[in-house]
Amino acid sequence: MNLEEFCDRFQVLQNQGSDTPELGEANRRLLRDFLQDPSWLGEFLQKFIAGPSFLSDQPVSVFDNEIRLYRSPDKSFSLLVYIWDSRGLCPVHDHGAWGIIGGLVGSLREIKYQRMDDKQVEGYAELRQVSDSLIKPEGVRPILPLDKGIHQTGSPDDRLTITFHIYGRSLGRGYIHFFDAAEKKVTRASRRVPFRKVLALQALASLEEAVGKKFLTQDLFKCLPEDLVKEFRRISLITE
Ligand SMILES: [Fe+2]
Repeated sequence: MNLEEFCDRFQVLQNQGSDTPELGEANRRLLRDFLQDPSWLGEFLQKFIAGPSFLSDQPVSVFDNEIRLYRSPDKSFSLLVYIWDSRGLCPVHDHGAWGIIGGLVGSLREIKYQRMDDKQVEGYAELRQVSDSLIKPEGVRPILPLDKGIHQTGSPDDRLTITFHIYGRSLGRGYIHFFDAAEKKVTRASRRVPFRKVLALQALASLEEAVGKKFLTQDLFKCLPEDLVKEFRRISLITE
């Protein structure tokens, strides 16, 4: 099965509707079939690396080891690949949507946590580790949204691990949480815009003062991704 076929078949399942898509057996069965032969990933990466978009940006994300493969036109689900090198585990985090992880290459270590505090104190979170296990190639595991899906993942050794993820419709929160279990802290993590792009905008704005000519115009803002403009305005404290 190639990526296109998988997208079509998964979309049909979504259209049929399910209250708990991450747990639906039909979804999992389809995913297991898809994971059995990952040659589609080789074909995708070949096109991705050779294509014109490789050097331009993917959609901005909290995680820089993520490649988006597809987003359904009705935004009901997205498909992503994560490439985990030997840099260790990612921060402990939650999710703003349901999801399913499928193992492709190597094993993914997943440590799951349960939130123990009552969330009444801003920035404070108490976590208890509930499991530490591996998702092996062709293995399939659900991800639950918000507090039910707090976890930390990464390659268990120095080999590269590749996983395939399906995420459902975003709950619209616009951020996820990063947790520091040892320090009992929780912070909001938003999608990251490459900082050099924000600096380029700041430089362009500063030139007006230096040379008396306005380079950063409203028309230019209109051509730029919303996230980048928002981040520039936040850092520059520009409100309009
Ligand atoms: Fe995750």
